[in-house]
Amino acid sequence: MRAHEAGWAHAEGGHRGPAWLREPADVDALVPLLWSQTARKNDEGALEIGGVDVRDLVADHGSPAYVLDEVDFRTRARAFREAFGSYDVYYAGKAFLCTTVARWVAEEGLSLDVASNGELSVALRAGTDPARIGYHGNNKTVAELRRAVDVGVGRIVVDSFWEIDRLAAVTAELAKTAAVMVRVTAGVEAHTHEYIATAHEDQKFGFSITSGDAFEAVRRVQEAPGLDLLGLHSHIGSQIFDTSGFEVAARRVLTLHARVSDELGISMPEMNLGGGFGIAYTTQDDPSDPAQLATEMTKIVEHECRGFDVPVPRLSIEPGRAIVGPSVCTVYEVGTVKPVELDAGTVRTYVSVDGGMSDNIRTALYDADYSCTLASRRTEGRPVLGRVVGKHCEAGDIVVKDEYVAGDIAPGDLLAVPGTGAYCRSMASNYNHALRPPVVAVKDGVATVVVRRETEDDLLRTDVGA
Ligand code: LLP
Repeated sequence: MRAHEAGWAHAEGGHRGPAWLREPADVDALVPLLWSQTARKNDEGALEIGGVDVRDLVADHGSPAYVLDEVDFRTRARAFREAFGSYDVYYAGKAFLCTTVARWVAEEGLSLDVASNGELSVALRAGTDPARIGYHGNNKTVAELRRAVDVGVGRIVVDSFWEIDRLAAVTAELAKTAAVMVRVTAGVEAHTHEYIATAHEDQKFGFSITSGDAFEAVRRVQEAPGLDLLGLHSHIGSQIFDTSGFEVAARRVLTLHARVSDELGISMPEMNLGGGFGIAYTTQDDPSDPAQLATEMTKIVEHECRGFDVPVPRLSIEPGRAIVGPSVCTVYEVGTVKPVELDAGTVRTYVSVDGGMSDNIRTALYDADYSCTLASRRTEGRPVLGRVVGKHCEAGDIVVKDEYVAGDIAPGDLLAVPGTGAYCRSMASNYNHALRPPVVAVKDGVATVVVRRETEDDLLRTDVGA
């Protein structure tokens, strides 16, 4: 697209929001696809989740707050486990992890994927069986590898030749073995934001299949005495809707799998197809359900295995966002409302809330779209084109870029943004020394803090200067 000489805001069509955005018939109504399953507007027009009125939740726990719908989380976790019945389903903890959620994951029969010692600590504290933990990362430290081997993590996903050597040394030192998956790069351009696509060649993850590194990595793992080679791992990216990327990746990964069987005489028992299944953030998104995904992915793998005449390995997947994303919404309090007249005579209503890029960096980082609703009452006004912004010192501090909001929205109102379960609390920061919000789980009319709000004492504790 050609830039307008006066900047992006002046480009044609830039004033009225994106083409997909439609003025809603009823601005108070929730679009079910975007919200967790127990979310509804009650008789007073307030948002209620898990039987808890968000006005009461904010009165008790303050704002902003991430509201986690336990029933929704468990239902999604279970839906993946049931749909992918013969697979191991790893919940990707990087999307959001706390002790309570790790416990729910185990109770629902899922395994858990961690990517640091911090995430591992949470999992172990929750009582997760180490054998059901997968450990990821392109640059795990020796200390991380040592701990993973020491506690008996079930799968270590190796990502570099350096790491194969380090892990071999660690297993020798501890006189233990480590079960290993080899992360490979399938060379697929997933249709998602560049920063969250992970299987094209020009990025940091995995061993390239094309260059031959992946085959060599398999050979070295196989030869290392303390390493037990289980199979290949491929994750092509995140927020993906189109299974054609998985199809191409599966074909390439299975080509390698078959080559290993032919040339090295090794039948690798497992294969991990990664996560990345997309969710609906706005009405433009149309995600598949787990049953559809399972059917399509299994068909692809079985077809390819038949073609190569190799047995179908035990498969696993690693959904994060598709489980926790829709289970959470963030509730904010509105502080200011500022109508800004745009060139064409249209107005964009800037609604400032008491959080922002410190609790949801995704809009600024990936140009992500979100939706929102007035959460504390019914509106009397007609919808107006709005933009929800935070309280940080940047013009890019945007939470919801484009959404119709209640025309009478005012300071003191509560506003809720759905779909904030994945990569919001887990990527939250203390920018401007913001205090990261709590995560409050709701169920059957009861609100329970599972991650408390940070305090200024938390912040000052690490600031050890005079
Ligand atoms: N497996 C591996 C190896 C991964 O790297 C990831 C995500 C997942 C599974 C889970 O992907 P999911 O199902 O949640 O899409 N911060 C970005 C996403 C980064 C994803 C990192 N890896 C975002 O906010 O969109």
